[in-house]
Amino acid sequence: MCGIVGYTGNRPALPFLLNGLRTLEYRGYDSAGVELEDASGELLEVKCRGRVAALAGLCEGLDAHQTIGIAHTRWATHGEPSDANAHPHRDCSGRVAVVHNGIIENYQELAAELAERGHSFKSETDTEVIAHLVEEELAGAAEGDLALALSLAASRLTGSWAIACVSADAPGEILCARKGSPLVLASTADGAYAASDVTALAHVTSHVINLDEGGIARLLPSGEIRVFESDLTPVAEPGTFDIDWNASAATLGGYPDFMAKEIAEQPEAIERLLEGRLGDSGIVLDELSLTPEEIAAIDRIYIVACGTSWHVGLIARAYFERWAGVPTTVECASEFNYEEVLTTDHTLCVIITQSGETADTLASARKMRAVGAKVIAITNVLGSTAARESDGVIYVQAGPEIAVASTKAYTAQLVASALLALFLARANDSISLKEVRARYREMLRVPELIRIVLSRAWQDEVAARAFVDAGSSLFLGRGLSSTTAREGALKLKEISYLHAEAYPAGEMKHGPIALVEQGYPVVVVVPESPVRDKTISNLQEVNARGACVIALATNGDVRVAQLADYLLLVPPAPEWLSPVVDVVHLQLLARYVALARGCDVDKPRNLAKSVTVE
Ligand code: F6R
Repeated sequence: MCGIVGYTGNRPALPFLLNGLRTLEYRGYDSAGVELEDASGELLEVKCRGRVAALAGLCEGLDAHQTIGIAHTRWATHGEPSDANAHPHRDCSGRVAVVHNGIIENYQELAAELAERGHSFKSETDTEVIAHLVEEELAGAAEGDLALALSLAASRLTGSWAIACVSADAPGEILCARKGSPLVLASTADGAYAASDVTALAHVTSHVINLDEGGIARLLPSGEIRVFESDLTPVAEPGTFDIDWNASAATLGGYPDFMAKEIAEQPEAIERLLEGRLGDSGIVLDELSLTPEEIAAIDRIYIVACGTSWHVGLIARAYFERWAGVPTTVECASEFNYEEVLTTDHTLCVIITQSGETADTLASARKMRAVGAKVIAITNVLGSTAARESDGVIYVQAGPEIAVASTKAYTAQLVASALLALFLARANDSISLKEVRARYREMLRVPELIRIVLSRAWQDEVAARAFVDAGSSLFLGRGLSSTTAREGALKLKEISYLHAEAYPAGEMKHGPIALVEQGYPVVVVVPESPVRDKTISNLQEVNARGACVIALATNGDVRVAQLADYLLLVPPAPEWLSPVVDVVHLQLLARYVALARGCDVDKPRNLAKSVTVE
């Protein structure tokens, strides 16, 4: 949700800034801009509505010798996508420029106050108030000290922010501030860097500084970075971490798009996650800092997540309840934050978040910690806020996920949830070691099962024909497959813009069946399971009404084959693991439909990868 980069050093800044924006573009892509500063402090701004490619076009032929700059790719919150609303935003004098990710909740009152004192605004954004506040502080209490000016300005803000700021009054320096939105920094021999996440820094360093909540950082052209608390008390040893993948992991590597690459990477991601996870006494999860007694005592679980990660939670609930016997509630974070919670003395909150930065999910974790619950994060991003603010973290190690639609993180999070559930079940003695071993062995087969599905991508390409001219579609499943149906429908909606309604197959006759008419596409997820026969009855109900049935079924299921117009075949898998295998077909299907409808599968409209605003 908006990407920020900044650089001050001894090289021209523009190439890094544009490259950085390209890597962060998945965070937002409705407008982009850059502010360059030369050694004397003179500022040069280029910004426009549209993608980073449009900005790069405008920058062509520019005399871009400047070695200092900040840049931004936007996902609009306040003010439509337009040239004027694109970041950076400047103060009245044109001597201060800021880029910002987050939301300034009190911007209207600040803007009114600033306007009364004579400031004039050029955009409709919440961000612009920051530039004017810094301007006032520089001229007043801060007396030209940009760090002090930004710290005083930030103290007036409510909401969330990651800010990078330059000023002609402090040539060479970039000042950053962060609260609630991520920002990472890197100090190298070439200079100092800032970025919203590590993907933009992976090609310049493997060692990254995390700017803590409320922190301020001063980046100098020598590469030195000084980190402060919000009141400018120096932080002697800022938190750091190492990036454990190289920059090529975030490139296309011969694939036509990131979604294709990330779908294909699922077998290796799961192999990585499972490696070394079975020990003498059960599942090995050394990264959880809870004591065995605390784990064994857990008597209630809240799983909180958003979107695709919430779907992981719906399936994880079955794992926690079936194996560990612990009552489990699954909540959408955006709703949960406004609900009463019923905790016990031993409640565990599991947050599931690929990015580790989803604002609603983080707010839920904070709420649960405040009432005394322990929090475990399942996340993909090393050093993310979710990881740092939790009592334990399971990294799913799927590697950078760049396509906005989550694929490999989804399946890796499912497997991580299963590992956690088996771990809890063993700790509270609900399951034998023998059974843990049996379940682990089943998981080890998943990469191979997914490879078989990947080799059948042609089935999805063919089935995509049923959707190309459709106006809507229905996804049905029962039991765990009802969540697979939900996830398939979400993937289809978000990247192909085709309406897709997901429903538990048995509930369909209580309403959604009215949608079905001749040729209406209905995806029925009906792998081998205890509810297969019941699901086939539902399949027959839509079939009888002329639906075009796309059935996901197990190899050799002749009965389903006879009823379906298109078949997506999966190899036999244990029922509890079928969501991990089956969903791969639905990811492929969504991608083929989106391509056939001429959509950009990696950057769907209106969406952003990392939703850092509530
Ligand atoms: C859909 C998708 C989103 C995310 C959601 C939560 O494909 O990716 O629904 O799952 O925005 O994001 P994380 O997992 O980063 O908290």
